[in-house]
Amino acid sequence: MTTHFPPSYISGAGIGLRSQHYQYILKHHPPVHWFEILSDNYLNPGGQPLNYLERIRQNYQITLHGVGMSLGATEPLDLDYLARLKHLAAFIEPAHISDHLAWISVGGNYLNDLVPLPYTETVMEHVAKRITQAQEFLGQRLLIENPSSYIAFKESTMPEWDFIKGLIDKTDCNLLLDVNNIYVSATNHGFDPLDYLNAIPADRVKEIHLAGYEERKEYLFDTHGYQVHPPVWQLYQTALERFGAVPTLIEWDTDIPTFDKLMTEADKADALIKKVA
Ligand SMILES: [Fe+2]
Repeated sequence: MTTHFPPSYISGAGIGLRSQHYQYILKHHPPVHWFEILSDNYLNPGGQPLNYLERIRQNYQITLHGVGMSLGATEPLDLDYLARLKHLAAFIEPAHISDHLAWISVGGNYLNDLVPLPYTETVMEHVAKRITQAQEFLGQRLLIENPSSYIAFKESTMPEWDFIKGLIDKTDCNLLLDVNNIYVSATNHGFDPLDYLNAIPADRVKEIHLAGYEERKEYLFDTHGYQVHPPVWQLYQTALERFGAVPTLIEWDTDIPTFDKLMTEADKADALIKKVA
């Protein structure tokens, strides 16, 4: 395929591409460094979303972020899904592909949520094999995102950060570190988010996510429907000091605001990234 896209490289702050903003972006060419797409929405050839994406890609860098790999599930990896994702990646030439440390399918049925895993050596071995298989199939290293969680398994024998470090050692994968997820999980489970940040190998963090949670009575709920909260900005600054000027995404998935509001959040992240660049 002859490509007319600019080479793939991201830096600074990006914004999650949502259909509500297609027209605005094409008309106004806002000065966003890059967009992240939810790859699962663009897997059908010939669809309108793909048409918009192709036009937007001509002026912007893109990353692919998916929910469909179900890397923690026990059934075989969905090779048809991976083949369609590979096809999309060959077309769009993203800076990278990411998915979650979670599972969303059981017995061929798909759940609405990303479900966390028990953190044991056996599960690590299992997930590592699947990440390796997915990386080999796609022909590139993946970024794995840490989940936000509300439950923990009593079977777990190690904290999430040790599980992630083990996966990196076994698969050579990189990380998409969601700082909001760390804050939400730390609050819900009562651990120190700095212990998490300090344990993560700095050279593996290739992207950061920021989003807004909702405060429920007894826990924080990761809705991606709010501005980034002050304690998450604070944790983010600590993360940048430790990991350097990592490209950072503003994730906003529910109650999608105006593009201007997203730009304000991205500008705020950009200013912090520049401080450590
Ligand atoms: Fe995220």
